Amino acid sequence: MMLLSRVDAPSPPDWLVSRALERVDTNHPIMNTWGEDYANRMLYHPSGEYQSSNNKVIFLDEDSYTWARENISKEIVDIRIFASTPGRFLTGPHTDMTRWYTLQYLMKTGGKHHRTAYYKEKAHSDIEYPSRYSVTEYSKLEQLCSMEIPTDCWVLLNAHVLHSVEFIEEGRISLQINLNDIPADLKLRNTISISNYK
Ligand SMILES: [Fe+2]
Repeated sequence: MMLLSRVDAPSPPDWLVSRALERVDTNHPIMNTWGEDYANRMLYHPSGEYQSSNNKVIFLDEDSYTWARENISKEIVDIRIFASTPGRFLTGPHTDMTRWYTLQYLMKTGGKHHRTAYYKEKAHSDIEYPSRYSVTEYSKLEQLCSMEIPTDCWVLLNAHVLHSVEFIEEGRISLQINLNDIPADLKLRNTISISNYK
């Protein structure tokens, strides 16, 4: 099963990045899909207790969507900018609600020790979960892998294996494209897969 992969695709043009960052500054049009209780939930991590990092999720405009369709893949669902709340260390382990795969272009890491970690619950044998599943206690989890996602390139992530983004207290900003499947026109390389799981 694929966990993540580099994708050969052009970097977003300057106009798209500046329009996206403008939307972070003006908070518009914001899409709060998860609700305040979930977004602000407490997390119990070996290094301490933290409130979840609470991403702002903002759709980009039609021109940006057209650029992504023409330059990344015809099968994209949408394109958004994600901005985590500065001062919050962790995005708690979760599966995504609106997509099976995320194509991410990281622009600001959130901190020099930033990590993206995949987990499975110790109590379960499978590692893919339904949408919108979350865990608040890290002690219930076994880490499958943890890595530093590179900046300024496209990375495909499996969004239905439990994942957490950690040590991002400076605030993390990324462009993200939703995908329901891995499109045939996407050029993957350096793919990291995990064996022994369905
Ligand atoms: Fe996610």
